[in-house]
Amino acid sequence: MNRRPALFPCMILCYCPQEKSFLAGPPIENGPNIMEITNEDALFLTFCRGDLSLAEIAAIIQKDGGETKAMAEKFSTEPQRALQLLDDVERPAKSDPRIEIAKQVLYERDSTSKFIDNSDQLHQYHVDKISDAIEQFESRETTISHLYSQTHPALGGIPYGARMANKLCEMGVINKGQSILEIGGGTGYLARDFLQYLKQNQPQVFKHISYVMLELSPVLLESQIDSTRLYSSMISHVLGDAIAMPFSLGSFSIIIANEMIADLPSICIKKVWTDDKGIHEVPEEAVSALRFIADFDIPLDDAFPEFLVNLGAWQLLEHIYHLLAKGGIAIIIEYGSPWRYPIAVSLKDHTEYAIHFGHLEKIAKGVGFEARLEGLADFLSIDLDVPILERVSLTTLNQSLLPHLDINPLPMLAFTPETLEESLGDLYHRLYNLQFRSPKQGGCLGDPSEFYVFTLSKREAYPSRIEERAN
Ligand SMILES: C[S@@+](CC[C@H](N)C(=O)[O-])C[C@H]1O[C@@H](n2cnc3c(N)ncnc32)[C@H](O)[C@@H]1O
Repeated sequence: MNRRPALFPCMILCYCPQEKSFLAGPPIENGPNIMEITNEDALFLTFCRGDLSLAEIAAIIQKDGGETKAMAEKFSTEPQRALQLLDDVERPAKSDPRIEIAKQVLYERDSTSKFIDNSDQLHQYHVDKISDAIEQFESRETTISHLYSQTHPALGGIPYGARMANKLCEMGVINKGQSILEIGGGTGYLARDFLQYLKQNQPQVFKHISYVMLELSPVLLESQIDSTRLYSSMISHVLGDAIAMPFSLGSFSIIIANEMIADLPSICIKKVWTDDKGIHEVPEEAVSALRFIADFDIPLDDAFPEFLVNLGAWQLLEHIYHLLAKGGIAIIIEYGSPWRYPIAVSLKDHTEYAIHFGHLEKIAKGVGFEARLEGLADFLSIDLDVPILERVSLTTLNQSLLPHLDINPLPMLAFTPETLEESLGDLYHRLYNLQFRSPKQGGCLGDPSEFYVFTLSKREAYPSRIEERAN
């Protein structure tokens, strides 16, 4: 009776004393996982939060110890297993930072040993496999900007795209007459909210800017046209590959690439090739990466004998330098690390590679940029204390409970308790065990802490390095 029952985090209790009560879990074999339970059992389960002992719960619900124990047993064994019984003694959490680092290193090695050059497939994937813009970001690659695409308390009550515009205004980089390029704009929500923010807050500047969206996927391009219809007189949409960059030199004063550079090809390199004196046969696709390594003195002391590099992102950086007008600025946001080599991020139907920002910084400075690397949360002043609904709860709601109640699934958004209540109405007050977690606690849905912002300013005249490389 000293043990403390707690519903598993993936379970949601729907307690309706006047009607039927349910316990919902994550879907089984892609079907909803729902159990109808008695209101007596449901009342007991409302107290199974892990903070009360069975004896304490028995006293609250006015049952004798035997009955309460029987209920706990019923829900902690199959087939109705939904509860765990926590011991009296709290076990200290095992968090040894060395284990985390070792895991990262193993992951890095694993990504390299399983690497298959998929540059062509990745290109083709974007060109003809993406078939529905909303579904793409709701269920295949949910980006931070998608999760925060509605007004959000963590962003000061505005959406992600608006916060980006607000930040660039604060930095004093948006002025009349400028041309902005956004590469890989996904659904187009960022552009829509960016322009809406400028229209409302900087009307004079808004009237005198132009916005270009470059996109590889025809389906996403259509979505971008649709999302930004209100601004059609000032916006143009170009279908094309960022690596080919179909624009002339110095065309833009601001370039934004939000969560797109991990979509560009990565490549596997052998360390021996980097000190090659002509004795190794180097595959053609590696030659360009080896030139970057040599031209920009990319440090490889910490590399394994075989390692991955973000070749596509390196190439894009060079293109961006050419496309920016003098005094221009580029904002590149992506998942990665300042020191970790690219690791595979396996999504439902394609694989992306996290960015080694240390290497990217070396190239940025080498081509002549002033480069600043900072965390996404710092850049956009994201409030890391705001709790966000965890993925387990969103999955159980969308795939088990809401379909059972004939309610439409919720969109993939970073719900706070308040926005979830707004979306679910009265039902919200009947739900127990919803899991919320703030980015500060780590590992929450859309955790911004692994995303970096690279701010690149083009101040200098063409540096000799880039001229040399062009010759
Ligand atoms: C992960 S999505 C990010 C979308 C959006 N920026 C966001 O934050 O939600 C990557 C975007 O880049 C586009 N993209 C990928 N490779 C590209 C390339 N080589 N040239 C242009 N766009 C590309 C994709 O089609 C998609 O719109």
